[in-house]
Amino acid sequence: MDLFNNVQAYYAVIGDPISQSMSPDIHNACLQKLHIQATYKAIHVPAEQLGTAVEQMIQTGCLGFNVTIPHKLSIMKYLDEIDPYAEAIGAVNTVLIQNGRMKGFNTDGPGFYQSLILDYQEDLKKANILVLGAGGAARAIVKTFLLNDVHQVSVANRTMEKAIELMKGSNGEVLTPKEAEGQLGEYDIVINTTPIGMFPNPAASPIDTTLLDQKTTLVDIIYNPLTTEFLKLGIRKGCTVQNGVPMFIHQAALAFELWTGEKPDLLLMEQIVKQKLG
Ligand code: ATR
Repeated sequence: MDLFNNVQAYYAVIGDPISQSMSPDIHNACLQKLHIQATYKAIHVPAEQLGTAVEQMIQTGCLGFNVTIPHKLSIMKYLDEIDPYAEAIGAVNTVLIQNGRMKGFNTDGPGFYQSLILDYQEDLKKANILVLGAGGAARAIVKTFLLNDVHQVSVANRTMEKAIELMKGSNGEVLTPKEAEGQLGEYDIVINTTPIGMFPNPAASPIDTTLLDQKTTLVDIIYNPLTTEFLKLGIRKGCTVQNGVPMFIHQAALAFELWTGEKPDLLLMEQIVKQKLG
């Protein structure tokens, strides 16, 4: 297998599928802007090739990489060290390579939290929050809330067992999507972490919004399309909405900083995503 054809210093994102990723666009723009002599590329790595890919990356001058679907859990067994925060979340989306050693981090949860705290600040601790979905993204978000003393968090999911597992050890409520729909007006923030509404199936909403109240803020972690059906329904009800762009750029910025020690230009990242999807 020859996935890599140069030995220059580089960063990467690995996943399957990967061609849709906008991480190379935003990272390369920021590397260039800061005159850092490295590139960032997307590498298609199917699940069964993860071990080989990791070995090749170490051998070919990779300085660090992002990990996306389906590798966020499976990458952990290849790492020499895992940051305690990523350990607590139970998933890794960023790997730093130094002297042939790999250390794993999670910037999804903190990236999401940063994107939300900008608007909410201390109010977040008092907010009644509903998370839709109980997959890897929900896990990073819910665990980050709990680690930051945000405890009024409920989870609604199609498969109840997954939601129960996710909320084990916390006081939060676990609901069916139907139950959540019935009390939707009670929440201050509703966050969609499911892929429902994502390109190329943008017409669907993860939840019936009939009982949604104007005071509720809707957050979708999807950024393609920029305004999902879920957010459109919220806008029609007069709700404040936030799409997935802030989370995407904040998780990328945290990874960039871990690798380079430099703060990237968040505004430049945001412009690139919006230009490409706008
Ligand atoms: P990620 O790791 O990106 O969060 P994931 O692990 O596939 O992705 O999780 C996606 C979440 O969206 C899951 O909670 C999934 O529900 P199940 O636990 O029941 O599988 C939810 N999800 C995905 N497609 C769905 C659909 N069509 N209807 C309802 N829930 C869905």
